[in-house]
Amino acid sequence: MIFVDSTEPSEIESVFGWGVPSGVTTNPLIFARQAGSADLEARIRQILAVSRGPVSVEVPAADEDEMLAEARRYARWDPDRICIKVPFGEPGLRVANRLDGEGIAVNLTCVMSFPQGYLAALAGARFVSIFSGRVRDPGYDVRPTIAKLRGQIDREGLATKIIVGSIRHLMDVAEALEAGAHVITVSPAILRQLLHHPKTDEVVAQFSQAWNDRGEP
Ligand code: E4P
Repeated sequence: MIFVDSTEPSEIESVFGWGVPSGVTTNPLIFARQAGSADLEARIRQILAVSRGPVSVEVPAADEDEMLAEARRYARWDPDRICIKVPFGEPGLRVANRLDGEGIAVNLTCVMSFPQGYLAALAGARFVSIFSGRVRDPGYDVRPTIAKLRGQIDREGLATKIIVGSIRHLMDVAEALEAGAHVITVSPAILRQLLHHPKTDEVVAQFSQAWNDRGEP
């Protein structure tokens, strides 16, 4: 499955028009870059209107009561589709477990290792987000992390799904899926790169040229 990693409603609407994506992820950094000081609720409601499936919205890393209060507020915007992104850590696990108990879906995010992902799954996270590019930045291979977590989820029959984000290159997509990601989340720009192959572009142009150049019957 593919989710769209963006807070840009027009871009999200455009790629959902392909019938390919089945969810949206956002984070405070993407929001700050794309939407600046826009109102979070208004923006998320726009995103909900032009997409399908879960929409992940991140709570600020603050004290637990504040995280819980914000999470409950966001969930009310669309209880069936809003998924609360909670930054990984000890408070994050507690918050995730509380929200899961209240029937609010959680995406435990900023996960970089198998042990973190396993703890997140046991705490009841509906999604665990592993950040491929950020694991790779210092030179580590993210594939064993994804594969080990997927193996453990399957062996224990846990309901958690692995999202792999922080996708920077086309190869990251195939590698994450091959290693066992249930979902990859990609920017619309990366999604568009997936469309292209030089030989496809060449043959489509060749067929079209031949059709236009054919003589009269
Ligand atoms: C995933 O859910 C995150 O939003 C995202 O992919 C983080 O990626 P970055 O490394 O580009 O910040």
